[in-house]
Amino acid sequence: MDLFEYQARDMFEAHGVPVLAGATATTPQEARAAAEEIGRRSGGVTVVKAQVKTGGRGKAGGVKVAKSPEEAEEAAQAILGMDIKGHTVGTVMVAEGARIAEEYYFSLLLDRANRSYLAMCSKEGGMEIEQLAVERPEALARVEVDPNTGIDEAKAREIVEAAGFDEETAAKIVPVLASLWEVYRDEDATLVEVNPLVKTQDGDIIALDGKVTLDANADFRHPDHEALEDKAAADRLEAAAKEKGLNYVKLDGSVGIIGNGAGLVMSTLDVVAYAGEELTDGEGNHPKPANFLDIGGGASAEVMANGLHIILGDEQVKSVFVNVFGGITSCDAVANGIVGALNALGDEATKPLVVRLDGNNVEEGRRILAEANHPLVTIEETMDGAARKAAELASAANAA
Ligand SMILES: Nc1ncnc2c1ncn2[C@@H]1O[C@H](COP(=O)(O)OP(=O)(O)OP(=O)(O)O)[C@@H](O)[C@H]1O
Ligand SMILES: [Mg+2]
Repeated sequence: MDLFEYQARDMFEAHGVPVLAGATATTPQEARAAAEEIGRRSGGVTVVKAQVKTGGRGKAGGVKVAKSPEEAEEAAQAILGMDIKGHTVGTVMVAEGARIAEEYYFSLLLDRANRSYLAMCSKEGGMEIEQLAVERPEALARVEVDPNTGIDEAKAREIVEAAGFDEETAAKIVPVLASLWEVYRDEDATLVEVNPLVKTQDGDIIALDGKVTLDANADFRHPDHEALEDKAAADRLEAAAKEKGLNYVKLDGSVGIIGNGAGLVMSTLDVVAYAGEELTDGEGNHPKPANFLDIGGGASAEVMANGLHIILGDEQVKSVFVNVFGGITSCDAVANGIVGALNALGDEATKPLVVRLDGNNVEEGRRILAEANHPLVTIEETMDGAARKAAELASAANAA
């Protein structure tokens, strides 16, 4: 589960990571009231920030400096309701304005390929870290972190030295990295990223932005994490699915999944997750399953249309993988179901669909899809190939 910035901020604070005051607001009036309160500490200056679970908020106009409560209200008015990469802004955070001298970058993440943790740190933080990683990789220090020992003082030193900080700044950053390690370890995170980590004009080090991903496999150890779930987003679609008698579960990636039968749907999640990991961007983001919907034994046009309607209603979905094994329902019926569903949905169908059919009467099923030649549909023969295609399409849509 990815956290909103304000949730990451609160988590940082609880573990002793230096952060600035911040409060959430869902209306411009609330933002104004929050700015009156918070601005007292910073000469009236606050920053109004869109709370969406995607990067590049600043570039999209979702981060605005306000010099007065009135300006904060106006900024919130402009930001609330804004669409940032398919995420509608429903909440803003009003943060204390920092007097920034320098912006740095730090992240700690699960490095699956090396079965280890990886810390990344740079003196050049801010908004363009992906670009930095590509254009001047030497400016981004990468240091392996042993999960057994984590970031103790010696490891923190190694990281800041690799990043090339001067002694005075290094000494101030070291304890902050140790606190960020505590967040990572104690909360069972797979990602803790601070961009920017800033030095203020007074020389203080502060985490000005935070991205945290929690490992859902460790949820049993953290009963408090349940409260961090974005229930509003999950509930609407789950309720709609229930109404149609469909088994739907919301996850937080970008590839929607429709399959028939629990076993097939579960393994589809796995192949999409694996395919997605190979498409990791500079920030450690990669396509993951957005949800899954088990349409069960029957896959009539009506069931398929209901399923697609729900999956496409998830704004986080960028591509859909339909993975059906024709058993009781043969593949030609499933193919007719897909074609019928797309016709019924008309303009509502806007996201690419990758279809993999196998089993009973598969040739005829593929022929029906090929003949329909729908512009949004790609037919793949294998499950792995289809997973890769769906992940690539989601990745391309996210980058756009
Ligand atoms: N509290 C603050 N005070 C002063 N400036 C801020 C504050 N918060 C953010 N900024 C400025 O705005 C820039 C962008 O903010 P932030 O990093 O939170 O958003 P972002 O990088 O666009 O979002 P994301 O990390 O989601 O891509 C920062 O690099 C910093 O210069
Ligand atoms: Mg940022």
